[in-house]
Amino acid sequence: MINSKALEKFSLKDKVIIITGGAGFLGMQYALGFGKAGAKIVIWDNCNIKKLKCAYSLWEYRKLKILWSSIDVTDEQNVEKSVSDTLLIFERIDVLINNAAMNPAVGSEESQKQFVPYDEYPIDLFRKEIDVNLVGPMICMKAVIPIMKRQGGGVIVNVASEVSNIAHDHRVYNDPENRKYKSPAYTASKTGLVGLTRQMAAYLGQYNIRVNAFSPGGVGTDKMPADFVKRFGSTNMLGRMAKENEYVAAMMFLCSDASSFMTGANLTVDGGKSSW
Ligand SMILES: NC(=O)c1ccc[n+]([C@@H]2O[C@H](COP(=O)([O-])OP(=O)(O)OC[C@H]3O[C@@H](n4cnc5c(N)ncnc54)[C@H](O)[C@@H]3O)[C@@H](O)[C@H]2O)c1
Repeated sequence: MINSKALEKFSLKDKVIIITGGAGFLGMQYALGFGKAGAKIVIWDNCNIKKLKCAYSLWEYRKLKILWSSIDVTDEQNVEKSVSDTLLIFERIDVLINNAAMNPAVGSEESQKQFVPYDEYPIDLFRKEIDVNLVGPMICMKAVIPIMKRQGGGVIVNVASEVSNIAHDHRVYNDPENRKYKSPAYTASKTGLVGLTRQMAAYLGQYNIRVNAFSPGGVGTDKMPADFVKRFGSTNMLGRMAKENEYVAAMMFLCSDASSFMTGANLTVDGGKSSW
């Protein structure tokens, strides 16, 4: 029989959870899962507030407790103001999920510049990606740490990627007419984020603040080219890409007391790809 106390440790009821990039594809899945579990959700995303509200006007989100801020995570003042706004409404911050990143879906128009040969890769774009994917999480962590210290603890999850463990296999992006190479800044920033996670965990353990990284594998959608989905899926042990709601439970584990003795780790959920 399952010990009911063990199940209670997964509870997120009344926890105040900030999700950066929460208007995005996976961020909305986390918000829905956590909101249904009784958490109070705070969304920080740099899309405009109209788009943000529109995304969250879907019926399944209507009964959830959600606060929105349209902010850029690379702007320290923006982030500090959003921390104050969060405290004004919800009075505490239990969890920060650094999920925002420059990660345009394969096949989308905005992804074109992030798939060019590396000797042509624009350095300004490389810098911007490092800024959003790595400096942004540092800025957000810096802003919530004083609050979590004052509260006597907290949880931070930094969303990395399977490419924090391995390099991208370019063959999955290529078809014979169109050679594509996923951004080198993406892999560099996500690998750096795992190092930053360890370093922050080593400092914050003394304050009962846990910091872990989460490294998901690629998620398939019907908007992606079907041949790409097939090729990408064949690179892991389960032979398919992840489904969009397949990471919510793993994230619940990281954000709740279920992972109370885990810090400085990188939880990899990639269909076995990096173990192969
Ligand atoms: N989708 C996948 O297959 C996959 C796989 C592995 C890792 N990841 C990681 O998961 C996270 C979410 O990915 P996704 O697929 O939902 O991406 P997404 O592009 O749908 O969402 C990212 C969100 O971040 C926001 N954002 C970008 N720059 C920002 C900034 N400067 N300030 C505030 N918000 C900003 C965007 O507006 C967007 O809503 C990312 O960290 C990504 O690297 C995704």
